[in-house]
Amino acid sequence: MAQYSKGLEGVIAAETKLSFIDGEKGILEYIGIPIGELASHSTFEETVYLLWNGRLPKKDELAAFNDQIRSRYALSKDIAKLVLEMPKTGEPMHVIRTLVSALGVFDSKPNAIDLPSVRDKALTVLAQTPTMLAYYQHHRKGTPIVPPDTSLSLAENFLYMLNGKKPTPTMAKALDVCLVLHTDHGLNNSTFSARSVISTESDLYSALTAAIGSLRGPLHGGANEGVMKMLSQIPTVDAAEAFIQDKLAKKDKIPGFGHRVYKSYDPRAKYLKVLAKQLAEDTGNKDLYEKSARIEGVMEREKAAKGIYPNVDFYSATTYHCIGLPLDLFTPMFVVGRVGGWSAHIIEQLADNRLFRPSVDYTGPHDVRYTPISER
Ligand code: ACO
Repeated sequence: MAQYSKGLEGVIAAETKLSFIDGEKGILEYIGIPIGELASHSTFEETVYLLWNGRLPKKDELAAFNDQIRSRYALSKDIAKLVLEMPKTGEPMHVIRTLVSALGVFDSKPNAIDLPSVRDKALTVLAQTPTMLAYYQHHRKGTPIVPPDTSLSLAENFLYMLNGKKPTPTMAKALDVCLVLHTDHGLNNSTFSARSVISTESDLYSALTAAIGSLRGPLHGGANEGVMKMLSQIPTVDAAEAFIQDKLAKKDKIPGFGHRVYKSYDPRAKYLKVLAKQLAEDTGNKDLYEKSARIEGVMEREKAAKGIYPNVDFYSATTYHCIGLPLDLFTPMFVVGRVGGWSAHIIEQLADNRLFRPSVDYTGPHDVRYTPISER
């Protein structure tokens, strides 16, 4: 007899060689390499190569991979036109979901799911998601579009396109580290969506579009925006304690805390905390970091015994703010990083596919007589 598990908690629905999580010990590894090692020494592009190939690249392999990504930064005329036709009032998560889907419309072979084709398409999405977001940002603000610069890394180029000037090495590095930390994370909700869609032998664009829709939710990647909104509602550092206590008394969930898998400190949050502190000091946003630290202190006293700690979204909010990203680009930034992980999972799923088709426990009535409309 199949066991019912609400929210599929504890259910193993796939095998993966990509990322390993030990939620009790707070461990995250990509292909066996601890996340802290990658955040300290790797780059986003190298991390994606690692996930797509199951090993770190040699020097010439990494150079070739970087070239492949950079050569695809520029949008086709059709996609660039479509970005400029998007309503300026759109939410960037809806816009990027639509544009990733549109990439499939303009692909002459969107349905090809052989490995080389999927990798090729995934490279385009990886390279162009930042360009589409930067173009949309200029479009809605009415500022001049800044075309991509292929001499720059993905993180540098995104900030360059967004701000019209090359970022400082500190800012580019901070964004790159954020992307590394967000690249993959087991069978999280959006990755499950991607794997579920591709398991029908659909196509990469449909799987990524579904994943973006899933990531947007405030219980998942949308929480980073929730954290920033909460921080801006708290007027001073000293007001943080009462604000959180009030929310907890109302049984509200605090965005950026808790996780289905981690019952100890999320190792990504540990890393982002250090990054957020440094950036907040460098950019005159000390208050923001101190409010966050104060909230963490309250939550530790009130909720750590229940295994509720900061998750990846908590300190990424301060980090993105200090990098200068507008609030509604926080979750789209998560998309940019996670395209690497989603694509790796799509490739892995296709290599050993079985249609996802769980069962439901029917709890409704039986044998109900059809009532004609005149008798209802
Ligand atoms: N603040 C206060 N209490 C919390 C929080 C929180 N952030 N998260 C969980 N709890 C409490 C719940 O109220 C519940 O308490 P109870 O047992 O007294 O009813 C208990 O902890 C278990 O919570 P669930 O929601 O059942 O745990 P679940 O595993 O389903 O939830 C989730 C995980 C959705 C992430 C939850 O912790 C949450 O809503 N957090 C806030 C949103 C958030 O930060 N999401 C981002 C997650 S990371 C990511 O997806 C990238």
